[in-house]
Amino acid sequence: MSAQPAGTQRTTFATLARRKADGEPIAMVTAYDYPSAQIAEAAGVDVVLVGDSAAMTVLGYESTVPVTVDEMLMLTAAVRRGLTTPLLVADLPFGSYETSDEQAVSTAQRFIKTTGCDAVKIERGGSSVERARAIVAAGIPVMGHVGLTPQTASSIGGYRSQGRTADEAVAVYDSAFALQAAGCFAIVFEAIPADATNAIMPRLDIPVIGIGAGPGTDGQVLVFHDLLGIYDGHAARFVKRYAQLREPMIAAVAAYADDVRTRRYPQPEHGYTMASGEAERLNTLLSDLDRGRP
Ligand code: KIV
Repeated sequence: MSAQPAGTQRTTFATLARRKADGEPIAMVTAYDYPSAQIAEAAGVDVVLVGDSAAMTVLGYESTVPVTVDEMLMLTAAVRRGLTTPLLVADLPFGSYETSDEQAVSTAQRFIKTTGCDAVKIERGGSSVERARAIVAAGIPVMGHVGLTPQTASSIGGYRSQGRTADEAVAVYDSAFALQAAGCFAIVFEAIPADATNAIMPRLDIPVIGIGAGPGTDGQVLVFHDLLGIYDGHAARFVKRYAQLREPMIAAVAAYADDVRTRRYPQPEHGYTMASGEAERLNTLLSDLDRGRP
């Protein structure tokens, strides 16, 4: 894997603020393990999110709800080992921060201490605003997430876009503004009509990263498996596939299995040789052992 080009600067919180001020879009992608982190690094993205979408993309759950803190910690630590340059943000999973400020701070501290991530992300406005404020007060940078918030999808009418009416859009704005006031350094806008996004954007000072929120945000985020076409599940309307890797991956594994079954693999070049004369000597030694055995 080729490394990040020499001289590339690490992304910092100040970098993101500067990008917003200069109108330079921020590229964010999810990653869930060491190889996907290395790919994000080599591709030169600005921010990597260990999203709780890992629940579906790598752990096979039906939604983000069941993923545990321990599972997310393991994935985030693996991503950390593969990243140098992008800012690393980890999702706090459902149920790990909502109950109290103490719970939220303690979970966020666990992520920072044990994985080395730079920041955490939490979903929703409402009570999450106070949780964000508490985590920020404990010295941990927080990214907010409004609009379609998958952890609580059932309470917002399912996996549907948010902010389709003016009143709904004002609710999205209220949440985003409150999260900004609570000290969040950035916010994800998920599945929000572009017109609503465009009306809210001039009213926010922190970078907004969109996913299905139109082109008017300060950056975009996509799920690694969606953009590479690896994940064999429902893809939301906002997904753009930049590759279709699932089919070539299946074809490669099937070709390997076929080679094994037809003995075309391995070939001599895939193996090791004994020193000259050692194979004959081994046969003699084994024959001698055979004779001594009942
Ligand atoms: O979990 C995730 O991947 C996310 C992104 C879609 C923003 O939260």
